[in-house]
Amino acid sequence: MLELKNIDKYFGDNHVVQNFSLNVESGEFVSLLGPSGCGKTTLLRMVAGFEHPDGGDILLLGKRINQIPSHRRNLHTLFQNYALFPHMNVFDNVAYGLRMHFASKATIRNSVAEALEMVRLTGFENRFPAQMSGGQRQRVALARAVINRPPLLLLDEPLTALDQKLRAEMRFELRHLQQTLGITFVYVTHDQEEALVMSDRVVVMRAGNLEQVGTPSEIYFQPKSKFVSEFIGETNLFEAMVKEVSETTLNLSSESGESLAKGISFSAGELVHVSIRPDKIRWSETPVPGFMLCGIVQDQLFCGPVTKVLIELPNGENFKISRLSGTPLPPTGTQWYLYWNPEDAVVMHSVANKVRNTMENVDLGKWVENVKSA
Ligand SMILES: Nc1ncnc2c1ncn2[C@@H]1O[C@H](COP(=O)(O)OP(=O)(O)OP(=O)(O)O)[C@@H](O)[C@H]1O
Ligand SMILES: [Mg+2]
Repeated sequence: MLELKNIDKYFGDNHVVQNFSLNVESGEFVSLLGPSGCGKTTLLRMVAGFEHPDGGDILLLGKRINQIPSHRRNLHTLFQNYALFPHMNVFDNVAYGLRMHFASKATIRNSVAEALEMVRLTGFENRFPAQMSGGQRQRVALARAVINRPPLLLLDEPLTALDQKLRAEMRFELRHLQQTLGITFVYVTHDQEEALVMSDRVVVMRAGNLEQVGTPSEIYFQPKSKFVSEFIGETNLFEAMVKEVSETTLNLSSESGESLAKGISFSAGELVHVSIRPDKIRWSETPVPGFMLCGIVQDQLFCGPVTKVLIELPNGENFKISRLSGTPLPPTGTQWYLYWNPEDAVVMHSVANKVRNTMENVDLGKWVENVKSA
């Protein structure tokens, strides 16, 4: 459906999208997820034709569309402020796209009725945008966006203006609508939960780059970098050195103690980042073979469905444990040995390794000489 090939975009000296490539399949729901300013909107605007790439190609159904003006690209964009016409009622707002295409009166009547039924707004035809709630307005915008059945719909944070409860409901509605109509969605958000719940694939972006792309569960359970593991969900991250490798089991040594993890393509002596989710950490009164991490419970935090426990390790670092509220948790002030199923720890290569390897190739004597003479 959509192919982005080595897209580059500059605003002045600011390289906001960097050699970005991505394929989106027909009927797929793909989310672009990343922190504020990482280039999500810019990327979407380039696909829509409101902004032009400085390098690379955009292909829609195999056709290069770089030079095609926005209104002739066969797609629709839904922005955060959903821009309804305030002087038109719901019927006319939704019918707008069809009227632009000179559809017959009967077609318009049927299609609008169908679109409004889809977003559960039958009976609201004569209301004006100012007479509706944010969520209802959002649904009108959605009906308007899908009435022409564009093969591709671009959505830029369309739910941010809604309160949390409505947002959660709209997530399911949007997903349902997308599945029913078979429209390809490219959806921009900085809300990780939203991206995980709705998408077939999630693209994690960082400073104009594609950091990782995968299914929600791949992104959650197999983050490829420290950035992704921190950005997606809550986790405990620490640095460690691989002490020993036996088959796929890694003996790790960190400032706070010893632990086990599973991983391939790691070697003894390597520095790594380790991520372990709060719900995967277990505790015991006595040490568990392979682990030597001892900590004292600092606090218990009730967060509704889950309760969290903060455990301080000897180096001052805190580990978070979480369990469904109501299940037993270690009380504040007590001391425990922490461990986990080695399969639950995600081990990632550390950039520090690359730096160290580079440093090993540097002739330090010569480097010092150069610095002195400079
Ligand atoms: N028209 C513009 N002129 C100059 N710089 C711009 C322009 N539009 C965006 N930028 C810059 O480009 C970068 C990416 O912006 P963009 O709007 O794509 O981010 P985003 O990922 O959508 O962020 P957010 O989550 O806050 O919406 C930012 O550094 C932003 O300041
Ligand atoms: Mg944006």
